[in-house]
Amino acid sequence: MKAILYAAHGGFDQVSYGDYPTPAAGPDQCLLKVKAVALNGFDPMILNGIPGLKTPMPMIPGGDIAGEIVDIGTNVPSGTFKKGDRVQVVPFQPGIGQMGETLRGGACDYIAVDAKFLLPIPDGVTYEQAAALPIAYGTARRMIMVRGLVKKDEKVLVLGATGGVGTGAVQLAKMAGAYVIACASSAEKCEKLREIGADDTIDTSKEDFVAAIHERYGKPKIWGGGGVDVVVNYIGGETWAKSLKVMTRFGRMLVCGATAGYDPKEDIRYIWSYELSIVGSNAWTAEDQVALMDMVQAGTLIPVIDRVLPLTDFNEGLQALIDRKVFGKVVFIP
Ligand SMILES: NC(=O)c1ccc[n+]([C@@H]2O[C@H](COP(=O)([O-])OP(=O)(O)OC[C@H]3O[C@@H](n4cnc5c(N)ncnc54)[C@H](OP(=O)(O)O)[C@@H]3O)[C@@H](O)[C@H]2O)c1
Repeated sequence: MKAILYAAHGGFDQVSYGDYPTPAAGPDQCLLKVKAVALNGFDPMILNGIPGLKTPMPMIPGGDIAGEIVDIGTNVPSGTFKKGDRVQVVPFQPGIGQMGETLRGGACDYIAVDAKFLLPIPDGVTYEQAAALPIAYGTARRMIMVRGLVKKDEKVLVLGATGGVGTGAVQLAKMAGAYVIACASSAEKCEKLREIGADDTIDTSKEDFVAAIHERYGKPKIWGGGGVDVVVNYIGGETWAKSLKVMTRFGRMLVCGATAGYDPKEDIRYIWSYELSIVGSNAWTAEDQVALMDMVQAGTLIPVIDRVLPLTDFNEGLQALIDRKVFGKVVFIP
């Protein structure tokens, strides 16, 4: 079969579209013809190499996978799945690893996956939509709805809101009834954020987000008032200490990553003075994936897909993600 292969950690010179042995379904597995596979913020990080994270080489990237069952292992209970079924993969497999990160991913023609990590795709959900959901929207759902418990009428500030997790966080916070302020690095991206439901936007190429929040919503006061209730911050770096300055008393900072740096400057005075909470959120569960597909089926959520490309154009999608030219998700068709 054909696959995207990372030969070793490094740059684009390590990426190729080449031949790789076609897998067979093991006894507990189903063999899928991959129909769609999506890119995530961590795909370029995996290519670069993440200290402490062991990636099997050659690596096939792509943790978000939707496909059609073409073969079924002998131990898979009869009646569970049949050939031709449309399925979404659960890429985060506790105790085993994560596909596209520590396990090979789905940027290829075929993949064998344990049947227990497959979910049926409802009829009203396309393969492209099913591939766009698990990692970014799953992470956003856990952060906003499970760990962050975002409530109606809360003010939620989403930094770097234009990526997969960010657009998902904007849409899901709106569904929870929150007032959403979304940040992006251009006026064009801000316009798109308003189109998907953001109530207000901050163009961080022109305006400092702390000054903008203070000006528009008031400077937080120790005994309450001003600022926002929740900051969604997976950017880290210099945004971290600044985020502490925009939260109202009892504010919550939701964190699931650190795109711009994981050991930022801290200012703990704000945490005790304003009685702030830092709420970590990691990964998601199969239940999140099912809930998200149900929302798409019901028409209450439309996943934001920036572009759909043939898998042979993998480098184009990866470069666009690195250049911050993507709004939502990039999906590939093998
Ligand atoms: N813990 C978990 O289980 C988990 C799961 C998924 C993702 N994550 C993390 O969540 C984060 C977002 O993932 P994603 O897939 O949504 O990534 P993404 O699609 O690449 O989006 C990241 C967004 O952040 C902004 N950005 C990128 N580089 C930046 C920088 N150096 N400084 C400031 N802003 C920057 C960009 O928006 P603008 O250009 O508009 O500013 C971009 O749209 C990543 O840190 C990822 O590792 C964690």
